[in-house]
Amino acid sequence: MPDPGMIVKSRTAGRGRIARNDPDDPTVRASIEMIDVLALPKTELHLHIEGTLEPELMFALATRHGIALPYADVDAARRAYVFDDLQSFLDLYYAGCSVLRDAEDFYDLTRAYFDRAAADGVRHTEIFFDPQTHTDRGVPFAALMDGLTSGLGDGGQALGMTSRLIMCFLRHLSADAAMVTLEASLPFRDSIVAVGLDSSEAGHPPSKFTAVFDRARAEGFLAVAHAGEEGPPEYIREAVDRLGVARIDHGVRILEDPDLVERFVAEQIPLTVCPLSNVKLRVVPTLADHPLKRMLEAGLRVTINSDDPAYFGGYIGENYAASVAALGLSDDQVLTLARNSVLASFLDTRDQQRHLAAIDEFDAS
Ligand code: ADE
Ligand code: ZN
Repeated sequence: MPDPGMIVKSRTAGRGRIARNDPDDPTVRASIEMIDVLALPKTELHLHIEGTLEPELMFALATRHGIALPYADVDAARRAYVFDDLQSFLDLYYAGCSVLRDAEDFYDLTRAYFDRAAADGVRHTEIFFDPQTHTDRGVPFAALMDGLTSGLGDGGQALGMTSRLIMCFLRHLSADAAMVTLEASLPFRDSIVAVGLDSSEAGHPPSKFTAVFDRARAEGFLAVAHAGEEGPPEYIREAVDRLGVARIDHGVRILEDPDLVERFVAEQIPLTVCPLSNVKLRVVPTLADHPLKRMLEAGLRVTINSDDPAYFGGYIGENYAASVAALGLSDDQVLTLARNSVLASFLDTRDQQRHLAAIDEFDAS
């Protein structure tokens, strides 16, 4: 008997669809057609490059630099990836970054992510990096930028993907430290499209960074910020009103504030939601409880992303597939999510039109 819900590649499915066994009647093979979420052309907008460090590469880099890791092997590392909340993840995640020492390491990290993203149908990606995590350990800013930009260039060329870099400030550190980082980034201004804000949210409201974001926008950077992941809806409002952000990263707590929802719907301010991350960090108890579908139904410009896929058990394809399965998203909702990501991206209008046309073509094929 075929497995319930097993995905079966079918020549008859067509229209960007694949056939799947009926989970309610596993004797009926390939009776349901669903959208092929892996083949769907995708844009990823919320991805920490440091969060793509798979244990295999972590061990390879540790060997390269003669560093001892706190795990016996790759499997032991994966077994340790069980988290109570955002902070328990961040502690382990920053420790993992200790193997990233020079430009070659950042190059290898970026190329590995590109290979993985391309396999998931990603055509355009906007990537976060946290300079302070590295410069505070003595990695030169120039080495970091050299590795990242060469990786993006070579990976993009090899795989036909485009990308942008977003430099995040660590919100658990001071606003002065963020300003120093902003100043250090200015020689690389042309390689960075936007600034962002990440790390421990509770107790570090966006308003702490108003002066830094004012300066960044004056220098021509666009802005985004993590808000409403663990923090309250008020942090989402502050990020928009005080930091001038173009989109909110996570923002899943927005549904607690109907006035804010109304405003986000009216202004179509995008939210980069990361479903598997929210389950792993216990923002929601299970994926079936995730507010993604309710956010879509409210008319919010929601997108699906992977956040830190090496730690959260799935790249963007798995985030789409698991959300479809757990929440029963319709094909139209899946296509809306993919289109939302294009519209929320920092691509210019012509490139956005090209990506939207690819989604239309996929839907019609
Ligand atoms: N840095 C990496 N992943 C993060 C997340 N989910 N929230 C805040 N900061 C992060
Ligand atoms: Zn994030």
